[in-house]
Amino acid sequence: MIIAVDGPTASGKGTIARALAAHFGLPHLDTGLLYRAVGRQVMLNGGDPDDAEAALAACAFPDSLLDDPELRSEATGGLASRVSIHPPVRSALYERQRAFALQQGGAVLDGRDIGTVIAPEADAKLFIDASVEARAQRRFLEMQDQGREVSLEAIATDLAARDERDRNRADSPLVAANDAVLIDTSSLRREEAIAAAIAAVDAAM
Ligand code: C5P
Repeated sequence: MIIAVDGPTASGKGTIARALAAHFGLPHLDTGLLYRAVGRQVMLNGGDPDDAEAALAACAFPDSLLDDPELRSEATGGLASRVSIHPPVRSALYERQRAFALQQGGAVLDGRDIGTVIAPEADAKLFIDASVEARAQRRFLEMQDQGREVSLEAIATDLAARDERDRNRADSPLVAANDAVLIDTSSLRREEAIAAAIAAVDAAM
């Protein structure tokens, strides 16, 4: 059983994917973390994230980098969205994601192109969305909890810029698969969003 969970930043797709993995007893891969690791590695190499060759070289990041807390920062998220534009970067990360999806027993993957490119044959596809305002507000509260100094306005501007890049890139843009179930979490509480996702997966089986 493969479950594909796609959607923009701060839509709630990570929370939903983790909850689905726990509910159905499946392993979970947050594919955004791979792109974040590439973005971070470019910086560590002193390279330019907009340069395809530098970004491709950074795909050879060590596995230990995946545990770096810096990967979760907004700055690294921005870098990830820049390196993810380059087709050679997307190809370099393809096999790893594909192998995870095909492991025996199934898997839950979340990202931007799981239902369209990585696992188009997925048994259940969810596209999680929410308004920019709702997503910015959520990210704002999250960062405040972590004790980070941020402005709501700066977060909303950054989210909109990332959306624009992710939706308009030529290779594997962020778009709902034709057969995906759309869940808008703008006005849902966490538990409600998770319940809707579980119901959608049950209905797809
Ligand atoms: O989901 P997350 O915010 O961690 O992803 C960071 C960035 O990585 C996204 O803005 C997107 O540009 C890129 N990404 C992608 N394809 C995926 C997952 C993430 O292009 N499957």
